[in-house]
Amino acid sequence: MRKALVIGNWKMNGLQDRNAELLTEVASGVAGDAFASVDIGVCPPFIYLQSVVQQLTGTMIATGAQNMSQHAGGAYTGEISAEMLADIGCSLVVLGHSERRSLFAETDVDVAEKVQAALAAGLIPVVCVGETLEQREAGRAVEVVSQQLLQAIAGLDVTMLERIVVAYEPVWAIGTGLTASPEQAQEIHQALRAALSSLSIDAAEQMRIVYGGSVNAANADALFAQPDIDGGLIGGASLKAEDFIAICRAAA
Ligand code: G3H
Repeated sequence: MRKALVIGNWKMNGLQDRNAELLTEVASGVAGDAFASVDIGVCPPFIYLQSVVQQLTGTMIATGAQNMSQHAGGAYTGEISAEMLADIGCSLVVLGHSERRSLFAETDVDVAEKVQAALAAGLIPVVCVGETLEQREAGRAVEVVSQQLLQAIAGLDVTMLERIVVAYEPVWAIGTGLTASPEQAQEIHQALRAALSSLSIDAAEQMRIVYGGSVNAANADALFAQPDIDGGLIGGASLKAEDFIAICRAAA
């Protein structure tokens, strides 16, 4: 039985006063026993990670980063290592988000190196995969996301696989208001689990695969009701406490 997981990816939004208010509202909204069955995390911009970790101490909400370097340290101006994230109390890191791939030219090789570095530092990598609209229309969605996933985890010992979270985020659904239908998302999640089972049947059953792309308070229930959808990676709706709490409730 996989535990549900909902992660808020704030992207490049929020300033410290607003972040503190948002976290106060979210932390009190998800504090009850009703939410014990769902793991919850938030991923603020790097500069706010440490204060978010501090504010969330004593709550059940984990803190994660939106990216990190694949390098352990050294002359990489502007970069942040996995060990630094772990050092300040992060437990998650989003890797290979489509915005990183399309706007910052991250490749599958970069993502695979980051996954290895994150695992070595004890972080949970949240590996994002997703097809463009063009790829979907060409009937290539399953092939594209399966390849992205297999390349991101290439070379890992199968015992490490259960520590990874996969986020299926169709590029055409991110921030567009166009959500994949529950059936479309389920089809891809099932295919990702099938691709994983070629490496390890246990890992394929244990690995959490969450959906991202215009999830909101109104569509979360139907998405999370699908058997292979284990929660969500939430962008825009994670910036509104009421909506994020409702999405967490839908996953619980
Ligand atoms: O990481 C989150 C995803 O990119 C989804 O963003 O919920 O704003 O569509 P969105």
